[in-house]
Amino acid sequence: MDIKLSGITKEYWHEEGQVRVLDNLSLHVPSGSFVSIIGPSGCGKTTLLKLIGGFDGTTKPSRDIFMIFQDSNQLFPWRTLGSNLCYAIRKTHKGIGSARAEERAREVLSEVGLLAFYHYYPHQLSGGMKQRGALARALAVGCKVLLMDEPFTSLDRENKEIAYELLLKIWKEKKLTVLFVTHDLEEAKRLSGQILYFEDLNGKSPA
Ligand SMILES: Nc1ncnc2c1ncn2[C@@H]1O[C@H](COP(=O)(O)OP(=O)(O)OP(=O)(O)O)[C@@H](O)[C@H]1O
Ligand SMILES: [Mg+2]
Repeated sequence: MDIKLSGITKEYWHEEGQVRVLDNLSLHVPSGSFVSIIGPSGCGKTTLLKLIGGFDGTTKPSRDIFMIFQDSNQLFPWRTLGSNLCYAIRKTHKGIGSARAEERAREVLSEVGLLAFYHYYPHQLSGGMKQRGALARALAVGCKVLLMDEPFTSLDRENKEIAYELLLKIWKEKKLTVLFVTHDLEEAKRLSGQILYFEDLNGKSPA
């Protein structure tokens, strides 16, 4: 599934007035491609992903599009990892029985190397595991587009490498379309076929 935007403008209201963050932006991310976005803090990268993902009220969320945030607390803290996945599966696959949902959750956890942690609560997992758990949830839901907002920034080098390999494997196997936001040029080069550079329209970003 590709992402196509044409002439998108987004403004926010602040005390000092209206601030335009995206101005007449057009973007085409072809189906199956892996595209990174780099740009200074405040230039509108998260705004763009939220808009595509249906988190800002402009568009409707779709189960085909899944967003992974920088924050590594994206799983429900009161549910185990397995239960988080079962919940997502049952929400997106109406009528699926609990045994089949559990089986699917186990399959997906084994794909991301977390099967042994099925009964762990999120607070019992490391940052890297939680981000892999978030990836597992995307797989469990069966999305076609992954929007990733600096998902690995807080991981150490070793965990980043594990996450990169896993993400690239999943991207290829599932033929996903990935739009990946990062501050790290090396990361963007390592992962993506194309890098888009965004500028801050208001020039208020720190250098
Ligand atoms: N809900 C909101 N209400 C008002 N202003 C907002 C809102 N969300 C973002 N902004 C403003 O829009 C601009 C872009 O924010 P955004 O979060 O998209 O930047 P970013 O490129 O993701 O930055 P970073 O790299 O720091 O994550 C900023 O000036 C921010 O203050
Ligand atoms: Mg951001």
